[in-house]
This record gives sequence, structure tokens and C-alpha cells, in this order.
Amino acid sequence: MSDVAKLILDGKEYEFPITVGSEQERGIDISTLRARTGHITLDQGYGNTGSCQSAITYIDGDKGILRYRGIPIEQFANGPNFIEVAWLLIFGRLPDETEYRSFADELTHEANIDEGMRHHFDSFPRKAPPMAILASMVSALSCFHPEFMDLTDEERFCAAAARLISKIRTIAAFAYRHAKGLPYIYPDPNLKFVHNFLHMMFSMPYDQFICDDLVRDALNLILILHADHEQNCSTSTVRMVGSSQANLFASCSAGIGALWGPLHGGANVAVLQMLEKIHNGNLTPEEYVKLAKDKESGVRLMGFGHRVYKNFDPRAKLIGDIANELLPRLGVHDPLLDIARRLEEIALEDPYFIERNLYPNVDFYSGIILRAIGIPTDMFTVIFAIGRLPGWIAHWWEQNQAPSRIARPRQIYVGNGMTDYTPMPGRK
Ligand code: CMC
Repeated sequence: MSDVAKLILDGKEYEFPITVGSEQERGIDISTLRARTGHITLDQGYGNTGSCQSAITYIDGDKGILRYRGIPIEQFANGPNFIEVAWLLIFGRLPDETEYRSFADELTHEANIDEGMRHHFDSFPRKAPPMAILASMVSALSCFHPEFMDLTDEERFCAAAARLISKIRTIAAFAYRHAKGLPYIYPDPNLKFVHNFLHMMFSMPYDQFICDDLVRDALNLILILHADHEQNCSTSTVRMVGSSQANLFASCSAGIGALWGPLHGGANVAVLQMLEKIHNGNLTPEEYVKLAKDKESGVRLMGFGHRVYKNFDPRAKLIGDIANELLPRLGVHDPLLDIARRLEEIALEDPYFIERNLYPNVDFYSGIILRAIGIPTDMFTVIFAIGRLPGWIAHWWEQNQAPSRIARPRQIYVGNGMTDYTPMPGRK
């Protein structure tokens, strides 16, 4: 295969080197394109643009492959816990016993948030979207941890990462308690990461939440499956903001904003709303699918399709398996699960979805599991954020380690030509 790409422009030939990744992915390096030709590329939605080189996560969307630091996602289904995976993503290898213990201990010690910060919750309206609270509070960590504004050495970065991973869970649980008007439950140092989160969500001062092992394992796996997904919208946002040398908390807070949208992390909420709409009798699954195929309707089959996966989303398969195991074990018969299965059946046989390679994605079944655990719909994307945080941190650090130029795309301007300012009285 050629190691250069040739471009002929206005009769002149230019050569650009081909960059080859460790899995033989090939990209044309056009870093010098504008300087040499005066042209830029136009790639709306960045579907053909490699924004960086990264060693964290590998995806082959045609084959349904997802690997964290080389390890296939399927191998995380029955083994490690979320903290091990977070370490793996951030530091590039599995931790040994001592590293794991010390990181886990740091998470335990740092689970609480400053009392001053806790008072902030009281000033949010009860109906405030939890994603807004999460973004604000993660950003507010910058105020409470000035020692982490400049992270150059690995030890300090590790401490900041541990605080963020630990505290986001407390912030998320407090956001829920605030919305419900319930007393805040402080983290319990005797509980592990996922159990502690469920404790802060569901315990009462007079009634300790009893955690079913299967529920804990299901949530652990959901967090792991969301932990990284290379250059998706929120991770690219974290990298974009971090490229200006903004601090870790500010960068991750921006990532939370990007994740919130229904085409990204907010899809798990949109899936539930869609299923509820069908369940409430407004539409049959068949009618909904018909609507989703009609471009004029503005409706999409939520939880279907992916920018990268054009065969199947390996996370969706693992999540579907948990749903099948967990719901019967909890004695939950959720009619929304039946509707989801029917939608999947219809869509997978419909030429519209087959021709466009639209398959269920990770969000299609995750909401049903979270609902069965008792997590309210508006907290689904918050759970996604807790899961995705190690990925954001890993990408922020990777970029920080190999400083690049500030991320600054260009544009093709299509607006007015030079136009004179018109004073107010002369305007139409
Ligand atoms: N329902 C109906 N039609 C769809 C859907 C859908 N869910 N997804 C894509 N299409 C159609 C789209 O209209 C287009 O048709 P045509 O070629 O005739 O114009 C074609 O399929 C290609 O779609 P696209 O918008 O170019 O695809 P994209 O790569 O830009 O978008 C997506 C990917 C995930 C935003 C999109 O599939 C979607 O909106 N899905 C529903 C929302 C969703 O489930 N998002 C969660 C993604 S997974 C979690 C995460 O990583 O964030």
C-alpha cells in the first residue's frame, strides 16, 4: 500500500504522508495542507477527521470491536471492577495489588465534598436537571481544589483524578437527594465504589440500603461499558477545552454538557421517553418505527444507530444480556422491556434500518436496567457521566502529556460580503 497520498490541485501535484495506526488504520496527514495549498478540508460532523493520535481505546465499527488499552470489552463482563478499569484507562496498564489498593483507598478518603460545596445544592431549584447540577458542581471543584489547577507531575495528577472520580459519585447522589427533598447521606468508608453510590442514593438516616450483589454487579458493568469510547462528542469536547490548557475540572465539566444531549449520552433518557410514549398507548411499536423512517417527522428510533458501529455495538449485546438476567432475578416484569424487544425485532427486519446499518446501541437497554434498579430517568445520563469520567480523564492526561497546538478548526465562510453598518433610523 502506498505511504503517500497525492492531491492534484490547480494542475499542481502535492504529496501527503499516510499515518498508520497500530491496528493498521490509515490516515492522510494533511497538517501542512493549508500552508502548502491555501485550501482547508470541509468535514461536517468530523466523520472523516482524525483529531489526534491516541493509545487509549480502539474501535473497529465494522467488526463491532471495542478494546480498552488492547483488552476486548467482552473480557470486562465478569471480572474487574470499575476502579481497576478506570486505572487501566488512565495509566495505560492494569494496576498491581499495591497500586490498586492505594488508588481505591484514595477514592474512599476523598468521597466527601467540602461542606461549603454541599450548601450549594440548597440553592438549586428542586426541579433542576441533575446534569446541570453535575456540570456546575464539577466545575465548582476548581474553587475548592486550587492545588490541582496546574497538573504537570503524575503523582499530583493521580490525586486529582482520584478526587474527581470519587466526588462525582457523591455529587450525583446529592443531586438526586436534593431533587427528592431527602436528607443527604454521607459516603460510608466501609463500602466499595458502586455500593457506596447506591448507599448515598437510597439509604435513609434510619434505614440502611441493602445492596443486592446482582444490582451492584449490573451497575458496575454499566459503568465499565461506558468508561471510554475514543473521540466521541463529549471526549472530544474535553480534549478541545483541555487543549487551551484549561484545568481538569473545567474540561470535564464541559464534557458533561456535551454528554447531556439526546444524540449522545442523553439518548438513554430519550429511549425511556420513547418507550413510555408507546406504552401509554399513543403509538404502537409499528407506528413508531414508521414515524422514525419518515424524515419529515423529525422522529428517530432512539437507542438505534451509531456514528462508528455499522455492524453491532458490542456494549449493547452485553447490556441486553444483563437486562435478561437482572429483571427476572429482581422479579421485575417491565412492559417497557417487551416494547423495546418488539421495536428491536421490527427494526432489525426493516430494509430502512438494514440498509443504513442501524443497530441497537448501548443506550437501548441501559435505561431499562437503571429503571429496574430504581434510578429515576433524569439520572440516567448522570450515571453515564460517572462511567465516562475515567475516559475523559485519560484523554485529558494523554493530551496534556504530549502538548499539541490549541484545537482550533477553521470554516468555510458563507455569510454576507463586506456590508456597511447602518445607523438605527435608516434600518428597515
Ligand atoms: N432512527 C432513524 N433513522 C436514523 C437513526 C435513527 N435512530 N439514526 C440514523 N438514522 C438515519 C439518518 O436519518 C440517515 O438517513 P439518510 O442517509 O437517509 O439521510 C442515516 O440513518 C445516517 O444517519 P446519520 O445521522 O448520518 O448518522 P450519524 O452518524 O450522524 O448519527 C447517531 C449517529 C447516533 C447520532 C444517530 O444514529 C442517532 O441519532 N441515533 C439516535 C440517538 C442515539 O441513540 N444516540 C446514542 C448514540 S450511542 C451513545 C453514545 O456513544 O453517545
